[in-house]
Amino acid sequence: MTDRSPEIDPHSQVETTGHEWDGIKELNNPLPRWWLFIFWGTIVVAIVYWVLMPAWPAPPGMQGNTLGVLGQSDRATVAAEVSETAKMRAELASRLSAVDASAILQDHDLSQLALGLGESAFGDNCATCHGAGGRGAKGYPRLADDIWLWGGTLTDIETTIRHGIRSDDPDARMTDMPAFGRDEFLTSAEIRDLVEFVTAISGRKANLAAVDRARPIFQTNCASCHGVDARGDRAQGAPNLTDAEWLYGGDRDTLQSTIFGARRGVMPAWTTRFDPATIRALAVYVHSLGGGE
Ligand code: HEC
Ligand code: HEC
Repeated sequence: MTDRSPEIDPHSQVETTGHEWDGIKELNNPLPRWWLFIFWGTIVVAIVYWVLMPAWPAPPGMQGNTLGVLGQSDRATVAAEVSETAKMRAELASRLSAVDASAILQDHDLSQLALGLGESAFGDNCATCHGAGGRGAKGYPRLADDIWLWGGTLTDIETTIRHGIRSDDPDARMTDMPAFGRDEFLTSAEIRDLVEFVTAISGRKANLAAVDRARPIFQTNCASCHGVDARGDRAQGAPNLTDAEWLYGGDRDTLQSTIFGARRGVMPAWTTRFDPATIRALAVYVHSLGGGE
């Protein structure tokens, strides 16, 4: 019964859709052109995207997704970047062990790499004995100062790490202070006098008669390692006895037991455990802690 020919709205002269609510009629205006462009445009972009890029998940029961003709893959990109970085690090690491030790300190990239590598290897392997950051502990020398038993150049440090001290490595740094009391090289009276002597030369009050008695005993028994002036000898890892820094302690009881029984601290050798680049890196790190020479 409805009239099929479109009705024209008398006010706007626009065709109506024929829908009417409460006397208000819907005008049949065409969609704006810009809107249509965007609408069709998004559809075209979506289709082009599906063709070029990974887009649709595989149907249920199958693995993966559509790959797209460009073969783009974030996973492959990341893998390529990771292997590129690994290659660069491997190159740097091989340069690290190939170049002259002192050249590392001049090369910014190399020394940064060495410090990073060295710090983490130190934390995992050395801090148990030498403390975090090499701050040291009784019997384990502080590495973050400029007092060295065996030497503080990069080469000295590297040799120490490589072969250890009194370790089972055939090239270990090796000096054994005699156990003067236990092995009866000296009497307990002589050792008591030596304790006073070491107390005096390290700048503290001591029994002067004992110091005088000990002077020749020191020259005969101790000077060959600790030096005639008792300032130590790095060639033998013998510490300076005239400073206020002690590996084991400078109080009378500790001095007495050091001279009586000797200490012979052991530092493991690391050549068998680390590749040369890591040992280099550790040496650079230790050298950087504050006392490097
Ligand atoms: C089991 C304990 C122990 C571990 C682990 C250890 N050290 Fe030592 N280290 C020592 C002792 C003990 C000495 C001192 C030995 C002595 O009396 O001469 C020493 C000495 C050193 C010295 C010589 C210091 C000087 O004054 O000349 C260096 C350098 C050093 N250690 C570096 C390292 C590094 C780097 C590591 C890790 C790869 C490490 N140590 C791991 C026990 C250890
Ligand atoms: C063969 C070399 C040698 C002779 C000889 C020797 N020492 Fe030592 N002495 C060392 C070494 C090496 C150390 C380092 C500690 C260790 O053995 O672990 C040391 C450590 C010490 C220490 C500990 C210092 C500290 O910082 O805690 C004292 C004290 C000492 N010696 C006193 C003496 C006296 C006194 C004599 C002589 C009776 C003597 N030494 C003879 C090599 C020697």
